[in-house]
Amino acid sequence: MSEPAIAELSLIIDTDAGVDDALALMMALAHPRARVLAITTVHGNVAVDQVVRNVALVLEQMGREEIPIFPGAARPLVAPPLEGGSTAIMGEDGLGGATQAYPAPRLAAASEPAALALVRLARAHPGRFTLVALGPLTNLALALRLDPGFPARVARLVVMGGAVEARGNTSPVAEFNILADPEAAAVVFEAGFPQVWLLPWETTLAYPLAWETYTSWGRRDTPGARLLTRIGDHTAQVLQDRFHTPGYLLPDPLAMAVALDPDGVRDAPHVALRVETQGHWGRGLTAVDWQGHSGLSPNVHVVRDLDPDRAFQWLGRAVEDVHEEA
Ligand code: BDR
Ligand code: CA
Repeated sequence: MSEPAIAELSLIIDTDAGVDDALALMMALAHPRARVLAITTVHGNVAVDQVVRNVALVLEQMGREEIPIFPGAARPLVAPPLEGGSTAIMGEDGLGGATQAYPAPRLAAASEPAALALVRLARAHPGRFTLVALGPLTNLALALRLDPGFPARVARLVVMGGAVEARGNTSPVAEFNILADPEAAAVVFEAGFPQVWLLPWETTLAYPLAWETYTSWGRRDTPGARLLTRIGDHTAQVLQDRFHTPGYLLPDPLAMAVALDPDGVRDAPHVALRVETQGHWGRGLTAVDWQGHSGLSPNVHVVRDLDPDRAFQWLGRAVEDVHEEA
């Protein structure tokens, strides 16, 4: 009996890789149904040139050099960049020092800027791809300003970002990806994307990956396990020593799981969300109208709950499935 056809899930990934972005990329690259059309890069955890090198490293180590990388915005739309990005947690290269453990990547970015590539690819694959945004939303805002038809061509937009109960990780009320470019985030959330799924910081806090699981994956004698530990160990140590977290906080892998496996989502109310761009304490806040006070139409599905075992199995599979090493 022949195998039933397996539908393909086409993805474009916008990233500021970053430790947890890199692990999310591994998940997408190893997923049996996913086809990654392109990776667009953006400032955030580290400078965008370093993001390009980090993405190139992951693609080479996963044996996926055919996937194009596009160079994106080096700065937010309006404001200055957040000082230091995430280097205090993720190390100077944003990959926990992993770039020292591998030869410098041969892969380079294409010449086409990310926003132009997003517009072109959306026209080539209208309504047939999921856009996964794992960093500040600058490239997406630029793309939709260039082409107002862009949002309607994105079947599903999955965003890691926001602190929907104002439990900020970068200011008292704001999450990193939103605070790194609040104006861009405001533009994106008001652009009329037909399907927006948001994995916020609070859901990340609810589902840390158990340290025992992370350690046991890393103990395997495989290229995938070495990639995992070389990228992940530095941040794991910082999370344990400085923040005493009960496990590995993995926002971007959870967002990638929402993109790869929507059926793993258990609760995602459809609500109106706006981004606060003003104020001292309020800047970067994702204001969610849980009770319908504003009269605004719902524009975002907030992923409040998902099956964590189901979500993290894709990372476990990625660790198993890397067979190549330069
Ligand atoms: C988000 O900010 C970045 O530092 C992480 O990569 C993740 O995308 C978490 O707030
Ligand atoms: Ca990220």
